[in-house]
Amino acid sequence: MSTVQQEAHLPALDEHRRGEAAHELQATLVELVDLSLIGKQLHWNIAGRPFKPLHEQLDELVDSWRDLSDTVAERAVALGIAADGRAGTVDSGSGIDPVLPGALSTDAALHELVPRLADVAERIRSRMDRLGEIDLASQDVLVEVVRELEKQLWMLRVSLPTA
Ligand SMILES: [Fe+2]
Repeated sequence: MSTVQQEAHLPALDEHRRGEAAHELQATLVELVDLSLIGKQLHWNIAGRPFKPLHEQLDELVDSWRDLSDTVAERAVALGIAADGRAGTVDSGSGIDPVLPGALSTDAALHELVPRLADVAERIRSRMDRLGEIDLASQDVLVEVVRELEKQLWMLRVSLPTA
């Protein structure tokens, strides 16, 4: 470990590994922030029955995605790499298609949300696997994210209307 690293009290990981881990965390951060924005968009604009359970469930999901994004961002900073949660970075980096504007039925909202959440969970699972070779403490953060997103997917999937 370099003297600079010791003086900065950075984790005892070489610079390359810290950069690689932070890269995986950053990619996850922008997805979680984007999901939290999508969640609020749907929370506000769903219409029809059953309105209230989904309206409230969406807020719980937003809270979870915001909490997870905080944990992910802070792990990157703990590695000595700045987190970037700026709107433009999220917009250009999340890879999640925007949802339709305007009011939409509860069924349509679920059909908008579930595939996006499934794609994100799959991508984070791949990063979680890669982090096993790089930094177990960062992997542990993504393990928590994957466990939570996959639980959310289960609960949303079973409420999906059959098309
Ligand atoms: Fe609200």
